[in-house]
Amino acid sequence: MAEKVAVIGTGYVGLVSGACLAAIGHKVICVDKDDAKVARLKHGDIPIYEPGLSDMVRSGLEQERLAFTSDIGSAVSSSDIVFVAVGTPPLDNGDVDMTQVRTVFEQIAEHMAGYKCIVIKSTVPVGTHASAAAWLKEKMAEPIEFDIVSVPEFLREGSAIHDTFHMDRLVIGSASRAAAERIAELHKPFGAPVLHTDNSSAELIKYASNAFLAAKISFINEMAHVCEKVGADIQLVAKGMGMDRRIGPHFLNAGIGYGGSCFPKDTRAQLRIAEAVDYDFKILRSVIEVNQLQRQRFVEKVASALNGSLEGKKLAVMGLAFKPNTDDLRDAPALDIIEMLQSRGAAVRAYDPVAVGHARPLLPETILTTDPYEAITGADAMIITTEWDTVRALELTRVKQLLASPIIIDGRNVFAPSDMATLGFRYVSVGREE
Ligand code: UGA
Repeated sequence: MAEKVAVIGTGYVGLVSGACLAAIGHKVICVDKDDAKVARLKHGDIPIYEPGLSDMVRSGLEQERLAFTSDIGSAVSSSDIVFVAVGTPPLDNGDVDMTQVRTVFEQIAEHMAGYKCIVIKSTVPVGTHASAAAWLKEKMAEPIEFDIVSVPEFLREGSAIHDTFHMDRLVIGSASRAAAERIAELHKPFGAPVLHTDNSSAELIKYASNAFLAAKISFINEMAHVCEKVGADIQLVAKGMGMDRRIGPHFLNAGIGYGGSCFPKDTRAQLRIAEAVDYDFKILRSVIEVNQLQRQRFVEKVASALNGSLEGKKLAVMGLAFKPNTDDLRDAPALDIIEMLQSRGAAVRAYDPVAVGHARPLLPETILTTDPYEAITGADAMIITTEWDTVRALELTRVKQLLASPIIIDGRNVFAPSDMATLGFRYVSVGREE
């Protein structure tokens, strides 16, 4: 059955959820308080780089199943189901800033004239469903029934639409069986296995999943150091581990550590959530520490490949986004790495196919380019920080001619060391012998 859905917040999660729900036949109105953004979205002009999203938004608009507004009141009153997908950014102490979520719940309360099924999509600390119910009740002019359903989002940037249509699981946390069934029905065309839980468990599943994935990455990065010391190959070690079905082959790529808007924020938030109930989550503390160290260690690797000093060196940094297929620079390892290289006296030219525009204000001392060969020309070394397909596809003989010295320090293990040796490069990667 087609439902009328309001989605509040048109960031990654809100925009993708709204567009995908419209694509499976629901009538969706997406709300954002930013008028300029809404004006752009109404013309199908999307503010983020996400493969396939622009076409999906345009077709939703054409078929009149998707609309945008900055008027939260009309969106709430014309919808039966309201998704809350606003940001939950970190505060300086690692706690989650819940201001936007709270404001939205208060606005919903002010505008709801009858029953609403309210779905929390934002990543929120455990217990938020109860606070949200209290915020609603406080602001309601008279008592109105509602249900709060916690449906965490597990999509990855860069493959958000694929992930929505191929979900591993749909977690639905609710105290009301009827509301949970309605939300399951709403998502049915996605064909995902459904796990029904209570609200608190659903809220925790999100943090636990991100913390566990981050732990896999920090674990493999630590193993990579051991590999370097004993002369083993981390990719073979990861492959061998991953063939054990209890471990699985994913998220075992060693590199420069995780970045992005989710893992760094959510691991810190989970640590604070544990602290708040007087529990020292030791593994998670180490996961975060290892991830921070990984960036410094990579800079050391670059320095030692250049005989210890970076002073006056010209370096080409390939990739700014925290991973390929996104222009997102939030907590991107490349930004930290560039800053560290520059503070040690290096001059950096950086390449990225899509993130250069966003990077300009963040990297005032860096020459930025969308032409990989321009970044490389005359550099003392090429440093790989994001495994873009365009980096994988570089013509290496040309790279060798353009570099001042044939040195590559690869933070993403993009190339095979044997091929690089044959081509005559000094090739340093992560967890593999030179
Ligand atoms: C992550 C989760 O994968 C999603 O399931 C979750 O919904 C999302 O956070 C969120 O909380 O919203 P995302 O941040 O888009 O998604 O990116 P990932 O593909 O998970 O990559 C995160 C970081 O880990 C990247 O910097 C990537 O380079 C790094 N990574 C990933 C590794 O270093 N090694 C790996 O093996 C895998």
